[in-house]
Amino acid sequence: MPSAFEVLSRDHEEVRQMLSELESGPMAATRASPDQLALRKKMTETLIIEESRHEAAEEMHFWPAVRERLPDGDQFADQAIRQEQEGREVLARLDKTGADDPEFEALLSEFIGAGRDHIAFEESQVWPGLRARLSEAEASELGDKIVQAKKTGPTRPHPRAPAARGVLN
Ligand SMILES: [Fe+2]
Ligand SMILES: [Fe+2]
Repeated sequence: MPSAFEVLSRDHEEVRQMLSELESGPMAATRASPDQLALRKKMTETLIIEESRHEAAEEMHFWPAVRERLPDGDQFADQAIRQEQEGREVLARLDKTGADDPEFEALLSEFIGAGRDHIAFEESQVWPGLRARLSEAEASELGDKIVQAKKTGPTRPHPRAPAARGVLN
C-alpha cells in the first residue's frame, strides 16, 4: 500500500506536468488553430478534474491529520486550505471560460503560478514534519483513505461549497 506521500506526490507530479504543458502550449495569442484551442480547453478540464479531486481528498483526510499531529498543524492547514480555496475560485472561473476568450490565459497563468506555489508549500513546509510523525502503517493508511476519497470526490470546483464535504456533485 503506497504511503500518503507517495499518493500525493504522484498527483503533484501529474499536475506539474499538466501545468508545464499548458504553459508552453499554443494559445489564442500565438494564433492557435480552433483544434488546438479545443485541445487546450480539454487539457484544462482534465486539470480541473484532477485538482478538484486531489484538493478535496486532502481536505477530507490530509489536513485533519496535519492538525492532529503537528504542533503548528492548525496554522499550516488553515494556510493551505486558504490557498486551495483561492485556487478553486480561479478554476471555477476558468471552467466557464472558452480558450478563445482573452480572460482564459489570464486565469490560467494565475492558476499555474499559484498551483506551483501551493504544491511547493505542501511538499517543503508541511510534509517533512508529518512524515516524521507518522509511522509507516499510519502513512499508508492515510494514503489509502486519500485514494478512496479521490474515487468519489468532486470533479468540478465548487468555490462556495464547504471544503471538507464528501461527494459534492
Ligand atoms: Fe493541496
Ligand atoms: Fe497537494
